[in-house]
Amino acid sequence: MPAPTKHHLIIGDCTKTKKILDFPAIDLLLTSPPYFNAPFDYSDLFHNYETFLGMVDKFGKLYFKTLKPGGIVGLNIDDMLIEGVKYPIISDILKIFSNIGYLLKGKIIWRKPEGYIRISRRSGVLLQNPYPMYYYPDNLLEVILIFQKPSHMNLTSNKIMYFEDIWEMTNVLPLKGRLETNIAAFPEELPRRLINIFTTKGSWVCDPFLGSGTTMKVARELRRHSIGVEILEQLLPIIKMKIGFTSENLTSYLDLDQLIINNLQPDEKEDEINHQVSSHSLLPLALKKHKSLNNEYKYHLLLLDCRNISKNALNESFFKLINKLFPGRILAVMFESLNNSSNILALNQVTDSIMRHGLRLRDRITVQHQPDWHWEVITNYKTRVVFHHCFYEVFLFQKGKFNYKGKSIREKQDCLINKRQFQKEKWYLTLWDFRNQPRNECDSIVTSRLLELFLFNDEIICTNIKQISCSQRRFSTEYFTLR
Ligand SMILES: C[S@@+](CC[C@H](N)C(=O)[O-])C[C@H]1O[C@@H](n2cnc3c(N)ncnc32)[C@H](O)[C@@H]1O
Repeated sequence: MPAPTKHHLIIGDCTKTKKILDFPAIDLLLTSPPYFNAPFDYSDLFHNYETFLGMVDKFGKLYFKTLKPGGIVGLNIDDMLIEGVKYPIISDILKIFSNIGYLLKGKIIWRKPEGYIRISRRSGVLLQNPYPMYYYPDNLLEVILIFQKPSHMNLTSNKIMYFEDIWEMTNVLPLKGRLETNIAAFPEELPRRLINIFTTKGSWVCDPFLGSGTTMKVARELRRHSIGVEILEQLLPIIKMKIGFTSENLTSYLDLDQLIINNLQPDEKEDEINHQVSSHSLLPLALKKHKSLNNEYKYHLLLLDCRNISKNALNESFFKLINKLFPGRILAVMFESLNNSSNILALNQVTDSIMRHGLRLRDRITVQHQPDWHWEVITNYKTRVVFHHCFYEVFLFQKGKFNYKGKSIREKQDCLINKRQFQKEKWYLTLWDFRNQPRNECDSIVTSRLLELFLFNDEIICTNIKQISCSQRRFSTEYFTLR
C-alpha cells in the first residue's frame, strides 16, 4: 500500500488565513489567481486594478513565509484585455514578486489548441480592413511564471531533467454539466507537469486559489501532500468530489489518505500582511490622453531590439525617441523575458518606463523558434531541471489611439495586406510559429511582418536593428544605438 497522504482544505480568503502558517512548509506553490476581472469568469470581481494587485501583493507576502527556502512557485497568469484596455498583469506581478524576494527563474508559455480560443476573434478586424494598424491578434497563450525562494544552502544536483519552455496543453472549457462549470479551471496536465518536475513523493504542494481542486486532485494521484484554499464555500462539494473524498469521514479506505477541512470565520482577523497597498501599476498614466508636443513628431514606428540590453539603456536619449513617435503609433519591443544577470533589463522595468511616457500595452507576440540556449532550476531534492528556450517576445505598445480616418482610401489601398498570406501563415495568432527555424533567422521575418502590419508607405521608422527590410513598404529608416 502506498504511504498515505494528507490534504488540508481551507475555505477562506487566502490573503488573510494565517492558519496556513501552522501547516508544514511548502515545496511547490502552484496556482492560478482569478485573472483581473476576466470578462467570462470574473467580470467586476475586483473594484479596480489596484485592488487586484493589492491582493497579489498580500498573497505573495504571506506565501513567501510558508514556502521552503529553495521552494518553487508556478504561477499561471496572463495579461488581460478588458474593453480595449490591456492590463499589464505579468509585468506588474513580476515587479511585486521580485520586491517581495522571489527570484524569477523562467517563463513557460502555455499554448492552447486553436479551436479552444474562448475570446472573440479580434483578428477579423484586419480581415475586414486589410491595412496597416488594424492588427489585433487572437490570443491562444497563457504564461506560467516560475519563481524560486532564495536558499542559503548551496543547492546541488545529481539528477538532470530536460524540457522545452513552450508547452502545448488543451484547456478546460467550463461547459455546462462539467464539474468545473463556471470555474476557470486549468487542465490536470498543468499541475501534473509542474508537480512531477519540481517535487518528489511526500512533498507538500499548495494552491491558494484552488477553484475546483485540480491541484489537490493531481497532488493526491502523484502521492504528494497538499494544501488548498478557496474562498467560495459553495465549491466544497465539487472539490471533495474532484479530489476523490466522498465518504463521510473523509478518509479513503483504499489508501488511508486524509482530507482535513478547515472552515474559517469570514471575520477572521487580518494581520500585518493586510496593509494598505501603495500604487503598483503605471497603467493609469498610460491611459491618460496623450499631450501633443506640436512639431516634435517624426517617427511612425519605433522598432527596438531590447534583448539582453543593460538596465542603463533606457535613458534620456531613448525617451526622446519615444516623444518623437506620432500619436496613435506603435513601439514594438523585441524582448527576452529571461536573463542571467541582474544588470540586464527586466520586463517590468521596460513596461514601467514606457508607460511612464504615456504608451500602453496593446499586444504581445510570442515568436517560437528552434530550441536555443537554456535556463535551469536546481531543486531542493537535488535535481537540475533544464528548459530549452524556444521563444522570444515582441511587446507592442501604442501611444494613445490611432485615428483610422486620418488616412485616405488611396493611402490605405496602397498598403493592402495580403489576406491569404495572413491566414495561411497564421499571422493572426499571438504565437508566430517558426519552431523549425533558428532564432536569428526569425528576426528578419518578424521585423518585415511588423513593418507590413504597422507602417504605411513613405513613413519613417526608427530602429536599432541593422538591415530591416519589407518588400511591401517604401520607408526610410533612422538608426540609433541602445547601450
Ligand atoms: C482561476 S480559479 C482557479 C481554478 C483552479 N486552478 C482549477 O483548476 O479549478 C481562481 C479561484 O480562486 C478563488 N479565489 C478568488 N479570490 C480568492 C481568495 N482571496 N482566496 C481564496 N480563493 C480565492 C476563486 O473563487 C476561484 O475559484
